[in-house]
Amino acid sequence: MNETLNVIAERYSCRDFKSEMPSDEILQAIAEAAIQAPSGMNRQAWRVIVVKDQTLMREMEAEGMSYLAGMEDKSSYNRIMERGGRLFYGAPCMIVVPIDPTQYGPALIDCGILCQNITLAATSLGIANIMCGFTGLAFASGLRAEEFSKRLGFPDGYAFGCSVLLGYANTTKPPHEPDKNKISFIG
Ligand SMILES: Cc1cc2nc3c(=O)[nH]c(=O)nc-3n(C[C@H](O)[C@H](O)[C@H](O)COP(=O)(O)O)c2cc1C
Repeated sequence: MNETLNVIAERYSCRDFKSEMPSDEILQAIAEAAIQAPSGMNRQAWRVIVVKDQTLMREMEAEGMSYLAGMEDKSSYNRIMERGGRLFYGAPCMIVVPIDPTQYGPALIDCGILCQNITLAATSLGIANIMCGFTGLAFASGLRAEEFSKRLGFPDGYAFGCSVLLGYANTTKPPHEPDKNKISFIG
């Protein structure tokens, strides 16, 4: 194992953060690792928005929770309630990645790769993290989508792609158990 493989093996999704904010220096290093990500045809049809604004985060969380609560299928809502009723798990900050929806399929793949750069860079720096697709619920009803896009500074026409919550772990857990049966060699 080398340092990179160790970081990949150590990364896990944190669902319980302390309120302590990582320094701007650390957040900048993580954001710079994000934009090192490859993208199809080097399109870079994304932005990396570091959100430290607690008011905005809490408003987005509340909007997302109320959308979840109103869904006919209650399974996601119930899962989040079992985990403490917090979409953002107490994280003090997050990186939101909006994408150009006119290239939705490939842009979403690019977005996922970029988010994985964030999680691995964060892990290597001792910053707990979790990819959070549910941040998109804040945009789902459409009621506040435009307002949140504006407050987050999305470029015109960009839409939420994914986000990564960041902070210091209050409690930790092991990563999922990798299933080696999913690997095969042909020839
Ligand atoms: C694209 C993506 C979106 C995710 N969104 C959420 C989310 O909104 N909330 C959540 O609790 N976990 C979310 N996760 C975390 C997964 O549940 C987690 O990666 C998986 O259970 C494996 O656990 P591990 O990351 O600890 O190995 C997301 C993961 C990915 C890749």
